[in-house]
Amino acid sequence: MRRLSSIEHAGTFTVGDRTVKRLGYGAMQLAGPGVFGPPKDRAAALAVLREAVASGVNHIDTSDFYGPQITNQLIREALHPYPEDLAIVTKIGARRGDDGSWIPAPSPEELTRAVHDNLRNLRLDVLDVVNLRSTLAIHEPAEGSIEQPLTVLADLQRQGLVRHIGLSNVTRAQIAEGRRICEVVCVQNHYNLAHRADDAVIDALARDGIAYVPYFPLGGFSPLQSSTLSDVARRLGATAMQVALAWLLRRARNVLLIPGTSSVVHLRENLAAADLDLPDGAFEELDGVASS
Ligand SMILES: NC(=O)c1ccc[n+]([C@@H]2O[C@H](COP(=O)([O-])OP(=O)(O)OC[C@H]3O[C@@H](n4cnc5c(N)ncnc54)[C@H](OP(=O)(O)O)[C@@H]3O)[C@@H](O)[C@H]2O)c1
Repeated sequence: MRRLSSIEHAGTFTVGDRTVKRLGYGAMQLAGPGVFGPPKDRAAALAVLREAVASGVNHIDTSDFYGPQITNQLIREALHPYPEDLAIVTKIGARRGDDGSWIPAPSPEELTRAVHDNLRNLRLDVLDVVNLRSTLAIHEPAEGSIEQPLTVLADLQRQGLVRHIGLSNVTRAQIAEGRRICEVVCVQNHYNLAHRADDAVIDALARDGIAYVPYFPLGGFSPLQSSTLSDVARRLGATAMQVALAWLLRRARNVLLIPGTSSVVHLRENLAAADLDLPDGAFEELDGVASS
């Protein structure tokens, strides 16, 4: 039986034909160190996924290049057959080298293979949402056309293998280009309290009802550290990570959170951010973190 959970307090947002809670879970941290190989503790990884869904999470972010394959296989083992309301969002456009390196994989063959790999490893007939992860530069957005790979993904959608399409690691120009090619239901870029390059992108997407899903919401591999964040957290009796998430939830209605963790304790802490109402003063104070 599903436990009553507080994550409902964060509200919901519609992504394609799915309505998801604004607090979700990012599964990347479940793979081994460097997002490569198996987790140190497989049972603990499975427990995190089961706890997320038991707590009401119905939006999980993943990719077959996490591990590779490991994260999707963990999701399948922990959660298949999936709850009807669970949206599993994956991404394609990169692959992993034998040494764990991240390698662009935007060719039609690679993208098609990636969709089939995700379907097989997640044991799905159709993928809810597939983000095309631009790899023109591997770790940050870089200008350049995404027409070719996006057309391939749109074809896979027409074949019925993909329900909805999103974009990741993209610029404003690429979002505009993408929206001329197909319907784009979400954008997943690097953004958090201290990394605000996408402020205008978020506002523009909010006006058009498109979800913005910040990756590294807690700062990524080295979680956010700021004296303002710590001060506000202390005053509110919350943790710094909860305040960072509450700030994102207040930032705009179209922001959907996928904080990552390999720990059930951290997962519970992060999901409890839904209960944290940031007073106006704290929200404004935190707004200054990026420029300090
Ligand atoms: N599209 C892309 O290019 C892209 C790139 C990166 C990530 N993503 C997606 O975005 C999701 C989120 O990003 P992320 O997981 O890399 O970064 P994140 O959510 O910003 O932070 C994860 C890091 O914070 C730690 N952490 C989590 N909760 C914590 C807490 N309550 N207290 C202290 N530390 C805590 C985690 O360690 P513990 O495991 O010890 O909790 C981990 O080191 C990923 O899972 C992935 O699905 C997408």
